[in-house]
This record gives sequence, C-alpha cells and structure tokens, in this order.
Amino acid sequence: MYRTHTCGELRISDVGNKVILSGWVQKIRNLGGMTFVDIRDRYGITQLVVDAEINGELSDEVKKLGREYVVQIEGAVAERSSKNPKLPTGEIEILMESVKVLNKSEIPPFTIEDETDGGEELRMKYRYLDIRRNPIKENLELRHRMGFEVRKYLDSLNFVEIETPVLIKSTPEGARDFVVPSRMNRGEFYALPQSPQVFKQLLMVGGMDRYYQIVKCFRDEDLRADRQPEFTQIDCEMSFVDQDDVLNAFEGLAKHLFRELKGIEMDFDFPRMPYSEAMKYYGSDKPDIRFGMKFKDITNTVKGNGFKVFDDAEYVGAICAEGCAGYSRKQLDKLTNFVKRPQVGASGMIYIKYNEDGTVKSSVDKFFAPEKLLEVCEQTDAKPGDLVLILAGGEKKTLGALCELRLEMGNQLGLRDNNKFAPLWVVDFPLLEWDEESERFHAMHHPFTSPRHEDLELLATDPGKVRANAYDLVINGVEIGGGSIRIHDEELQHKMFEALGFSKEEAEEQFGFLMNAFKYGAPPHGGVAFGLDRWVALFTGAESIRDVIAFPKNNAGRDMMIDSPSPLSEEQLNELGIELKDEEREQ
Ligand code: AMO
Repeated sequence: MYRTHTCGELRISDVGNKVILSGWVQKIRNLGGMTFVDIRDRYGITQLVVDAEINGELSDEVKKLGREYVVQIEGAVAERSSKNPKLPTGEIEILMESVKVLNKSEIPPFTIEDETDGGEELRMKYRYLDIRRNPIKENLELRHRMGFEVRKYLDSLNFVEIETPVLIKSTPEGARDFVVPSRMNRGEFYALPQSPQVFKQLLMVGGMDRYYQIVKCFRDEDLRADRQPEFTQIDCEMSFVDQDDVLNAFEGLAKHLFRELKGIEMDFDFPRMPYSEAMKYYGSDKPDIRFGMKFKDITNTVKGNGFKVFDDAEYVGAICAEGCAGYSRKQLDKLTNFVKRPQVGASGMIYIKYNEDGTVKSSVDKFFAPEKLLEVCEQTDAKPGDLVLILAGGEKKTLGALCELRLEMGNQLGLRDNNKFAPLWVVDFPLLEWDEESERFHAMHHPFTSPRHEDLELLATDPGKVRANAYDLVINGVEIGGGSIRIHDEELQHKMFEALGFSKEEAEEQFGFLMNAFKYGAPPHGGVAFGLDRWVALFTGAESIRDVIAFPKNNAGRDMMIDSPSPLSEEQLNELGIELKDEEREQ
C-alpha cells in the first residue's frame, strides 16, 4: 500500500494514528536537531518531522532528500506545537518513523509554489511541473467540475451527448482551416472542424431533437489571451424552438453553473441588449456592463465651433469618469498615449475637468466657451468633480477606441471586479457584414443563420440592414457563447448563399450534403455554442485561457513542451504525395 491517507486529509482527530503518506518533497528545513519536511500531493501539504536525537539515522536520510523527490513515509500523527492556520492540515504533523525514496528528481527549473519564479515560456516547456502548482491544478479541477455540471444539467433537460467526426471538410465559421493530408486519397485533404455546426444540424434532421457535445474545435487564426488554435466548445442544438426557447434553456445552464461552481444565485433575467444598442453605448458587441460610463454622442453639440478635429469628425463621443477631475497632467498624458496606441487607434484625446467649484478646464479651452463645455458636461451627466473624456473621428473607429478607453478607465477606477459577474444576451445581430477587402458580404455568424422574419424583404434590397436571429452570451465583456436560429428552408438557404455571393455550384460543392438533407424534412431548429475555456477562465479569474488548459499552445501556435508543429520526414512527405516549396524547406 502506497498510502493510507492523502497529504491533505489528516486533522487533529487523527492524532495518535499510524499513517503512510506518499507525495512530493516541497520543502526541507533544519532547525537545531529537528528536520521538517513538507510533502505535497494533489490534495494538500502535510508537515513531517524527525528529531536527530531520537532517530539519527532517519534524520540523516531525510536531510539527503531533494525538492520534488517522490517519497513514501510512515509515522504517527501528532499535534503541532506551533500550528499553521493557513493549512487545513496545519494543526498536526507526522512524527516520521521511516522514509522510502520512490523516485528522485532533478532540481526543477522553477519553484513549485503558488507564486512561482518561472516565466511563461519555461512553465509551458515544463508544463507537467507547472500543473503541480495549486493555481493550475485548481483551474483544471474547476474545469472538470464545469464539464460535469454541464452534463448533469443538459441530461436533466433530455439533451443527448453525441460525438461528431474530426476528419471532415471545411466548416463555415470564418477562420482558416487546419488541414490533414489523406494518404489513401493522395492530393486530397481533410479539414478539422472549426465547430460541429453542420453535423449538429444534420442530427436535428436525424430527429435527435436535443444534442450537445463537449468538443474540441480547431481554428487557424491569430491568437490572443482568449483564443487558442484548438479550444473546447459546449456545443448544443435543439429542434422545434424559437429564439426565446434557446435563450431560456441556456440562461438556465448559466445560472446552474453560477450556483454550483461559484455559489452565486442569479435570481434575475439576464438583460437582452440589441446589437445596435451595444455598439452605440459601449462600442462593442461584448459590453462589460459591470459598470456604467456609457457613451454619449456629442457630435451635434460640439460641431461648428471652429475646432477642426470635431468639425471634420463623423462622430464625437464622450464618457464621464466619476471623481476624476483631479487627474494630473501626467495621468492625462498617459491616457492620451493609451488611446493613440495602434491597437486602440485614436488620433488624440480631449478632456474636460468639471472642477469641484463648478468651473471647467479643458484641453480645448481656446475653442469653446465655458458655457459650451458645461453643456457637454451636462449631456454626459457629469457632476462637479468628474472628468469628461472625448474622442472624435470616423464613427466605427472612434466607437472602438472609446470602448478601449472606457475599459481602461473601468480598470483604473476598480470597477471591473473579478468577483462580480454581469451577464447579458446581445441579440439582433446584423445577418451580414460588409468586407472591405473582398468587397462582398460575409455572414456575421455563419451562413445557416436565419434572418429575422420581418427583415426578409431587405435581403434583396438592403442586405446590410437585415437583422439575424442570432445571439451571444456575454459576461464581464467576454463573449462566452453564440448561436442562432437556423434556416431550415432550402429556398431561403439558397437566397442566403446568393446574398453571400456563392454561386450555385460553390454552395453545392461546399454544403450540398446539408442542402440535400434539408430536402427530407428538416425541423425548425437552433442552437448555441459556449467557449468552455473562456467560461472556466472567467470563473477562475485567469487572465488567459492558457491557464485553464492542461497543455496549451503559445501565441505562435506552438506547443513548447512537445515542440510541435515539427517538420515531416522525406518518407512521410513522399507517402502523402506532398512536395514542399524550397523556402519552407530551408526554415
Ligand atoms: P462561435 O464561432 O461564436 O460559434 O464560437 C462559439 C464560442 O466559442 C468560443 N471560441 C473560442 N474560444 C477559444 N479560442 C478560440 N479560437 C475560439 N473561437 C471561438 C467563444 C465563442 O463564443 N457553430 C457556432 C455556434 C452556433 O451557431 O451554435 C460557433 O462555433 O466563446
């Protein structure tokens, strides 16, 4: 027997018992003749002690142990003289009677502590050591519990988990595909699914009625803190539903997860905000509504006063930062530099300090009379003591920059508390979005999303105005999930392909199998998919989804531990009938 207990289990009530523990050596300390060892496993840490005067031989053996050695020890549980209230096992220690080294360890490249000295690269290279640390271990445990609770909840609503294939052909989520060459079909390639979208729709045609799957998806896109090339979706689809049915079912899932995993009772309906409102007031389709600071459109108030930046602008927007009138020159300069960063994209920032004494001070005093500046303050609901921040320029760009500025001010004012959760549904997304580069419409969600019935006629006349039966679940400014009611009518689907500029042949080539299935009685259906990694990161407060994935990839899409991707041998390439271009071969 390797152990009678785990390293997190023993309490004062166990005093006097003989026990066997196994675990990793966390720390060794010598104090006079006493040697203390902390051993650790997944469940916790237990202190061991040996007194050189009582057992000199064992004491010598223990002193030879190194960090991360795997040991098995035997001893008796005793009450500690100096207790450690921070540890669940902190009231006891084990008086060691024997130790057996189960395996040695080299000195780890970083400390296996909650606050480690290891940088991200190093931690990724030795991820198996990183996983021994509490923060990562706890994230993985929470991830497991989330999967478990999702299954429990969806099972209770009659959803069936069904696996769908991974070697498929291009799916329509809008990113690039990862492709896999086929040896048996030389010159042909599988694509890895960007999502199981078409399969879940086919399952509805198959009459499965309520499907879900916790499933890996693959997208070759630029990576960010909340994006990985392979990530996990909680993917769902339902038949005979309208938008409300789907939102209600999955609002229920969200509430269940908040209750079971965070102990938070969300006894209110999640707000439903039209996309147009989200853009107007927050400049984003994923607004963080933990705090207000909504945008005010002051274009008409400030235009025509001889200040060129405003006069030339398509849009002038303002936010009010409460209690910030005392911001120093330096703080304002820093904010100006922030909005000028290429990722934010503003050309500058204008401020109005609404001083406590009721006077105003602004960076555009020269152009505006105090009365005009006060009018702007009033329009932005500023009170004495507040600071009004203004950006101007093209509408789309300025809304985006103002969004970043608002979030930054939210951070500076401590309004984005990780322990507070503000969910909402963003609804009424546009069906199509104009792509400047290809000069054609793209599906904002995917080409199977249905247009709102009342907007159908616009599809031929003003496609950009058509709203979709599409929705996103947003929590704290993170897009946690998205979905739509699908087109189940072959004719409408063809119209949609037309609006997207697909020729009949192209549509047939790519999605013929789905169109064909729709000829055999497709039920009305709709669904949603949630990013499991993002949801776990939100619940754990992790800054990046990498922290909630056991073996993630870095920002260049590399797995640093197994060193992948890697070149193929000449033999493999030959077998697949692939020849590399010279420049790739040299890399
Ligand atoms: P969508 O493309 O919105 O919808 O994806 C659903 C959710 O998956 C998460 N997500 C990601 N998470 C990590 N890394 C990524 N690269 C990544 N890409 C997406 C997000 C997102 O909200 N088939 C549709 C769903 C449907 O219509 O039912 C789909 O995949 O949290």
